[in-house]
Parts: sequence; C-alpha cells; structure tokens
Amino acid sequence: MHLNLFAHGCGHHSAAWRAPGSAVDRLGDVTWWEDLARTAERGRFDAVFLADGQALSPTPGPSWFLEPVTALTRATTRIGLVSTISSTFWDPFHTARLSASLDHISGGRAGINVVTSMTDAEARNHGMDRLPDHEERYARAAEFIGAVTALWESWPAGSPPTAAVPVDHHGHFFDVDGPLNIPATPQGHPVLFQAGASEPGRDLAARYAEGVYAVAWDLDSARDYRMDLRRRAAEYGRDPDNLVIMPGLVTFVGATEEEARAKQRELNELLPVADSLRQLSFFVGRDTAGWALDEPVPDLPPLAEFTGPAGRYATILRILASSPNGRPTVRDLLGYLAAGGGHATFVGTPEQIADEMERWVVNGAADGFNLMPPTLPGGLDDVVDLVVPVLQERGLFRREYTADTLRGHLTSRCRHHAA
Ligand SMILES: Cc1cc2nc3c(=O)[nH]c(=O)nc-3n(C[C@H](O)[C@H](O)[C@H](O)COP(=O)(O)O)c2cc1C
Repeated sequence: MHLNLFAHGCGHHSAAWRAPGSAVDRLGDVTWWEDLARTAERGRFDAVFLADGQALSPTPGPSWFLEPVTALTRATTRIGLVSTISSTFWDPFHTARLSASLDHISGGRAGINVVTSMTDAEARNHGMDRLPDHEERYARAAEFIGAVTALWESWPAGSPPTAAVPVDHHGHFFDVDGPLNIPATPQGHPVLFQAGASEPGRDLAARYAEGVYAVAWDLDSARDYRMDLRRRAAEYGRDPDNLVIMPGLVTFVGATEEEARAKQRELNELLPVADSLRQLSFFVGRDTAGWALDEPVPDLPPLAEFTGPAGRYATILRILASSPNGRPTVRDLLGYLAAGGGHATFVGTPEQIADEMERWVVNGAADGFNLMPPTLPGGLDDVVDLVVPVLQERGLFRREYTADTLRGHLTSRCRHHAA
C-alpha cells in the first residue's frame, strides 16, 4: 500500500482553522511544513504533496499557496516531495528546470502534479480574460508534458554539456529549442502525477502519469475509476501496474468508535452554518436555508432530473445512499462536504480504519491513499502513530524505506497488490 500526505493549510476540513490550537498563525512559517513532512517521513509515507492555485482560494477560511518544497528537501531525507504545476500557466522550460533542480537537490525525491487549473480568476492573473476551454487545456497539457519530458532527458547524466541534445519542440502551444541547462536527475527525471477525472483528464493520466490522485466516495466508484484508468493505460501500451492510483482519504481516528465520531462532530460544529448551507443550496439546486441541521437530509431527485453541475450532485447522492451510519443529517452532510468534499471518509478505531483501507486495496479500488487529514497536525499524527502500525503489523505497509527515490517508493509492491 502506498501513502501520500496531501498537506494543506490547517487541515482539509474547512473549519480546521477555527479548532482550538490550530496552526492558523503558522501557515507562512516553514517549520510548520517541515514538521508535517518529518511526521509523514516518520510514518514511512511515499510522498508529501502540495496543491497549488493561481489565485486566492475560493474556499472559506485561510488557505495559502505557499511554495515551501525546496525547504522540505533539507528537513527530510527519504520521503518524496510533490508540487503542483499548472500546464495552463507555466511554460515547459521553467517547469523542467525547477523540477529537475528539486530532483537534484533532494537526491531523487521530486515529483510534479500537472493540473490544468479551474477558474477564470486564475486566468486573469496570467494575462487571459478567462480560462481556455477544457479541451484546449488538456491538449496543451499533453504537449506540455511531452516538451517537459524531452527537456528532462536532453542532457544525459554524467556527460559534459556538449553531449546535451536540442529538443527542437515546435508545437501548437510551445516552442522550445532546448536542451535543458541541467543534466538528467538522480531518478532519471521527476515523477509525474495527475488528477484527471473527465475523459481527457483520465486519458492524460493513463498516458503519462505514474501517480494519480483520485476522488471517490466509496469502494465501488474507486474501483470503477481505477479499472478504467488501468484499461486506458494498457491501451497506451503501458503496464497498468506502473500506475499508482491513490484516492483521497479523510480519517477521524479514535481509541473507540465513539471517540472518533466525537472528533468529527466537534469539528462539524465549528462550521459557519449559514455559509455552508448557502453553498449546499448551490450544489443541490434548491434553497436549503430552512433545512433542520440535526434532521436527516430530505429526499433529492435523481441525477437525471438535475440540471446544475453534475459531479458534485452525484457525490451528494452517493453520500446519502451509502453513509456508514445510515441516512446522514444535514450537519453530517455539511461536514462530509467540508472535509474533502466527496473524498472517502473513514471514521473509527485504528483497526477499523486499517480494515477499510485493506478492503479497498484487496478489492482493486486503490493502490494506496492520498491522506487528507481533517486537522493538522492532529489528524496526521493519528494516522502515523495509530493506523500505520496496524498496517505494518498486517504486512500491508513498509516498516522501513527500501528505496532512496520517490519512483523507488512508488514501485515497491505491497503484499495484496490487486490487478
Ligand atoms: C487530490 C487532488 C488534488 C488536486 N490538486 C489540484 C491543484 O493543486 N491545483 C489545481 O488547479 N487542480 C487540482 N486538482 C484538480 C484536478 O487537476 C482536476 O482539474 C480535477 O480532478 C477535475 O478533473 P478534470 O479537469 O479532468 O475534469 C486536484 C484534484 C485532486 C483530486
């Protein structure tokens, strides 16, 4: 099983910053990020991942897009470090140079998560009126990855600069002569991650990615996604086993199930109710202001009858149909949406959570998980100190690193690897 920490703000729950003892005052302090990376490394995680946006975050609460990755190379020695690059706004040479630098500086532990970006606000920070349409963004992403990869490979390791060859990339979106001014890196080149959900997104991931950040509320949808991606990878002539698919996972861990639920409830009670209900009204296409917080969510029409944005609505229907404790209350639903917004959420004792993680991996729904702790550092400490030992005891997760590079971590196999 592979484990990746998605380090984000004070935690992934949108009320995490309001929780007692939150790190809201430390988000610009590099030691905050160093501490998180060291904890993940103590848990023998494959990698730490940082998302990135090109405008103020639209989510409520303080959420910075600091770029501390280079500092993390000095605070850690083994764990992989993945940062996010937008192929809509970055250019291939910058990307290749910075990521190859990071791979050299970290001794072969760098990865990049290539995203196509999501908002017009981001576009307006880069000389565009609005985001190019989805199809164009993905066409650009494919060309971008081709050019970046050619640059990474243009100067063979251990050779003089005279051995570097031009890449002469002249495409629809980019013109790059090359070669890169940095030789090939300790792991050949940085590892490529992707998080595509749409048709072109899945294709891009299947064609190029070595690691995939997925979104799935339940085992069935995770398995459908993973099988689809593996099929697409095979069609591109790749070995699907070289694709590590990691659904996002929010965990609430307690010594007892009741204690875990209490942690979840306490955090949900910190949500700004009016704002959350307003957002829910948008997601479900009806006015939810009068919904009683502690009553079960009223019935909603099937997806086919909904005319708004389908992805989030489908997720809400899944949450209503398959929540661990039966029909969730309105407050429960707001909580699930606030912590990860549709990523799997496991609540319980370390054994219960390990059971569920094992079930997903054994049943072909995941190669590992992208952990999205609802609070930091508490939610991460709980996984590292309580859940990881159970996984190790079961032979599902490494006790020690067996490789020195990020690609080495990702290609080490777990006992239950399911095809
Ligand atoms: C775990 C995860 C992390 C993501 N991180 C980012 C990010 O940092 N920046 C970004 O612009 N998009 C990010 N995305 C969005 C994806 O790049 C992608 O746009 C989204 O999954 C929808 O896929 P689609 O564009 O193929 O429809 C992330 C998605 C997931 C699931």
